Order: sequence, then C-alpha cells, then structure tokens
Amino acid sequence: MAHDDSSGKDIAATSSGLDAGAGTAVVPASAHAEADGGLAVITTDGFENPGHPPTRPRVTDIDPKKARHAQRAVYTLFYISIAGSIFALAAYMAFPINDDLNSVRLNTVFLGIGITLALFGIGLGAVHWAKSLMSEEEGEDIRHPVRGTDETRLRAVQIFDEANKESGFGRRTLIRNSLIGALVAFPLPAVILFRGLAPEYSNPAALLETTMWKTGTRLTLDPSGLPVKAADVTIGSAFHIIPEGLNDQPDRLEQKAKAAVLLMRINPADLNVSPGRETWNYDGIVAYSKICTHVGCPVALFEQQTHHLLCPCHQSTFDVNNECQVIFGPAKRPLPQLPITVDSEGYLVAQSDFTEPVGPSFWERS
Ligand code: FES
Repeated sequence: MAHDDSSGKDIAATSSGLDAGAGTAVVPASAHAEADGGLAVITTDGFENPGHPPTRPRVTDIDPKKARHAQRAVYTLFYISIAGSIFALAAYMAFPINDDLNSVRLNTVFLGIGITLALFGIGLGAVHWAKSLMSEEEGEDIRHPVRGTDETRLRAVQIFDEANKESGFGRRTLIRNSLIGALVAFPLPAVILFRGLAPEYSNPAALLETTMWKTGTRLTLDPSGLPVKAADVTIGSAFHIIPEGLNDQPDRLEQKAKAAVLLMRINPADLNVSPGRETWNYDGIVAYSKICTHVGCPVALFEQQTHHLLCPCHQSTFDVNNECQVIFGPAKRPLPQLPITVDSEGYLVAQSDFTEPVGPSFWERS
C-alpha cells in the first residue's frame, strides 16, 4: 500500500533488512519510489501526514512458512463455513418439525449449530486473513471531490490493482474460491427456512380461500369448545368463537388462524343490513371474522357503546352496525361476515363458510 510520506513503511522495510520476497506485506522503499503520492492523488488542500510510527513486520511477513500456515488456516475456516451451511441443510431435512415438541428442539439445535458454524467460519476466516496476510501498512487517503479527475480515476484503478496484489485475492486462489463458496453456501439455509413457512404439498392460495366453517357447524367458545346457545348471548355481549371440533384438528392453529370469529348481539333495529344478507344474523346476533383485513392481526376489542370493533395493531376500526365497514385505519375491506342461524336445539350454527376470503386485502388484487 502506498504512502503520502515514505517514512512509515519504508523505514520498516529498510530497518528490517528485508527484500521484496520476504513475506507478503512489506515492500522495499524502492518499490514505492514512484508511488509516494499515496492512495489518492494529492491535492493542494491536503492535510499534513500525522506521522504514524513505522509498521512492524508480522511473523507472516518475514517467514514464508508462517504465511503458508496462515493461508491454510484461512481457507480451512472458509471450508468449515461451507460444511456448516451444508450441515444446516441436512439437519433441516433430517430433523423435520412435527407435532412432537422434541422435534422442534432437535431441528432448532442442529440448524443453529450449522448456521453458527457457517457464520463463524466466514467471520473468523476473514479476520484472520486480514490480520495475518493482508498488508497492514498504514496509508493516507487525501479527501477530494466525489467525481475524481481522469488522473484520479486512473489512480483508483491502480489502487484496486495494488489491493488485489497486497491481499492476494487474485493470487491465493484457494482462499478466494473457498470464500466465494462460503458466501454462496451461507444463504441456502435461509432459503429452506422461508420455504418451511409455506404449507407442504398444497397450494397456499387454495388453503387460504376456505375455512373450517360448513353448513351446520356449531359456534363454540374459544378455547373451551363449548357450544353457544342463542339464548346465552345477551345484547351488548361479545364472544370469541371457534368452529366445533377445531381443538381436535391436527393443524388446529392453522385452522384457527383462518376461522376465528367474533360474535356479538346488537339490537336488531341498530343493524343496517344490505340486500341478500337479511338472514345472515339471528335476532341481532352477528358473527364476523376476527382476522383483520389489513395485515391479519386478531380484531379483539369490541366497544359496547359505539358497536365498533378495533384492531390493536394499527387501529383499524370496523362498524358492526354497518356490516363491519372500515371507518378508520389502514384496512381497506370490511370484515367478512359469517352467516349464522340456530339448530333444532337452539345452538348457534353456521349457514355456510364465509362467502369471501378472510384476512388481508391482497385478495382484492389477486
Ligand atoms: S392488522 Fe389490523 S389494522 Fe393493521
């Protein structure tokens, strides 16, 4: 690396009595006779060289054996990183997550070990490379306008060339290739992790279009699963509802994320019902999806006086009197209504599934 002032590096080089072949970092003063201008072109408003002490050569600078040893250590660390990434991929497949809590632990632990090794290998290898093999001579960069002169630009190309030579990036092919391999392999575990968030073996869009609600499915309390009679729902009350049988489903959490409902009873005279929906409520008892149409938070706050439903995430507010139209906030779509009635025993049941997809409004754009 070049200097503004030749005193620092050149003293180090000459005082140690080295020649150009001794190590990778120290360069004799003669080699910089034409490069005294430093890393950048010197401008007239440059500042004075603060006078850094001479650079002391490291063992890897003066002993080629030590330099080779350091090189081996660096590429070994990059290979460890590659092995870590591959291990993480293998662990993800070997320890899939299922209903058993132990499978979550195994998956997390082994995936974590792999990703740790991958990161650790790249980080330590890069630090070791910089500390032991790259030139550590100090230089001075003179500040200059952002758009350099042609001379400056030419010099920049020379600097890249010098950096390449000093770091050995082009010459030390084992290190370079293993680093590239480590950087390519490292993101792979993230790809499979994100893939793991999607449902297996099924079209996610189709899964989101329907819920567990069917004709005759009883409305039951969340989380107990006890069915609700229309007579139990007094005016002004609100209940968190799940479909009957949800707790027995193997994928109950996924099902609940789509089928959760809020049940409220309003004075029928307060309800403004649009044509076609006259039979969707039962004597003022209405059921609406609990999944906010903004980005899917649970809409869980019912204001008894105003009959407003509030989403705590971004304060979208829905008017129950008016079929849960949005009256405030970022949501763009009313909450879908679940058509309900009662069965022969007086329990509240669904007339059908929701007539539109629940959840965020991206549906409208698809
Ligand atoms: S998720 Fe409900 S307002 Fe944003």
